[in-house]
Amino acid sequence: MADIRLEKITKRWGDVVAVDDLDLTIEDGSFTCLLGPSGCGKTTTLRMVAGLEEPTAGRIYIGDKLIHCSERGISVGPHQRGVGLIFQSYALWPHMTVYQNIAFGLEMEKMNKATIETRVREAASWMQLEEYLHRYPSELSGGQQQRVALARSLAPQPDCLLMDEPLSNLDAKLRLDMRTELKRIHAMTNMTILYVTHDQLEAISMATVVAVMKDGRLQQLEDPLKLYKHPNNLFVANFVGSPPINVLHGNIFAEQGIWRVRTSDMVFSLQRNPEDDVQIKDGQNVVLAVRSEDIVLDDPSASFAMTIYSSLPTGSDTFVRLTRGDLAMMAKLYESDSLPVDSQVSVGFRPERVLLFDEDTGQRISLGSSLVGFTEATAS
Ligand SMILES: Nc1ncnc2c1ncn2[C@@H]1O[C@H](COP(=O)(O)OP(=O)(O)OP(=O)(O)O)[C@@H](O)[C@H]1O
Ligand SMILES: [Mg+2]
Repeated sequence: MADIRLEKITKRWGDVVAVDDLDLTIEDGSFTCLLGPSGCGKTTTLRMVAGLEEPTAGRIYIGDKLIHCSERGISVGPHQRGVGLIFQSYALWPHMTVYQNIAFGLEMEKMNKATIETRVREAASWMQLEEYLHRYPSELSGGQQQRVALARSLAPQPDCLLMDEPLSNLDAKLRLDMRTELKRIHAMTNMTILYVTHDQLEAISMATVVAVMKDGRLQQLEDPLKLYKHPNNLFVANFVGSPPINVLHGNIFAEQGIWRVRTSDMVFSLQRNPEDDVQIKDGQNVVLAVRSEDIVLDDPSASFAMTIYSSLPTGSDTFVRLTRGDLAMMAKLYESDSLPVDSQVSVGFRPERVLLFDEDTGQRISLGSSLVGFTEATAS
């Protein structure tokens, strides 16, 4: 097994820059998710690793082996790269049964019949396909066909598997089942997985490392839970998490170790994290951000009044839309309750969980600053 290393990889089609000077290392044995919105260059990146797309510039290594170098005209063919592939659109062999489709790669590797049968049945059970082994692809639903394609690429247990939105055709329940299976398969086999998705929940819940992309550029490469807690910039903070992180726009002033963020009608006082070595400029435009689950309702300590616009109980928890003038926020409560529309509620934030970003650059300012109080802003 081996790392996959992309160095200064760029892919252009005419004026379109699909991938822009990308440096990315996919660690050996990791489950790395490429995450980002539609068109950000995920599929293009995966196809370049697979050898199906030629980078315009840059180098790709698998372990010590240089498999692509635009400058030196080196390009190792897709079949010589030792990576398995599974794409959103999957081609099964129509004249072969499910069993034969899954067994095909193993037969090519000249495994003995007994091992092939064990591997096929194991892969079929991972993908809940045992009862379909004798059927032909035309006798399966789209989701079942997708699972066959997955089983077929998992059965040979390649060192490295590249997957592009392989669960997109499945219904919500089956998608969840397949995520749990993929995560287990990864834990058991330790194969290196590079997995493309635009679904942040899929990435956070399965990956050991998430690479967030935007406009062909890497935004953050991070452990999934750190990514959620400490997004590097506003784009990542917004893209990761559902509902999206709440944002308040304001400007910042420093007073004796305390940062004060003045928004349209409030002043938030924040104890800065002593580990931070951050210079702010008085009056700098900032964005204060807080996740929906870090909003506390009926908080007697530090709180301000907001109005309940509506509440959406899910059975296990509740999403509450809160408003105050132009400000709107979404809170998540860990109980299911229907709250009266238009009633007043006192709102606080979990003090340690407030994030600050520079509004102009979008970059995170602080690792985390503790909220020590609010006051109503007086006109100045
Ligand atoms: N063959 C092509 N010719 C021209 N432009 C292309 C080609 N393939 C992709 N692109 C462009 O490159 C950019 C990146 O495409 P890519 O397919 O990598 O996006 P993606 O992140 O996989 O998106 P999605 O989530 O929608 O699958 C897009 O702007 C796309 O229109
Ligand atoms: Mg894609």
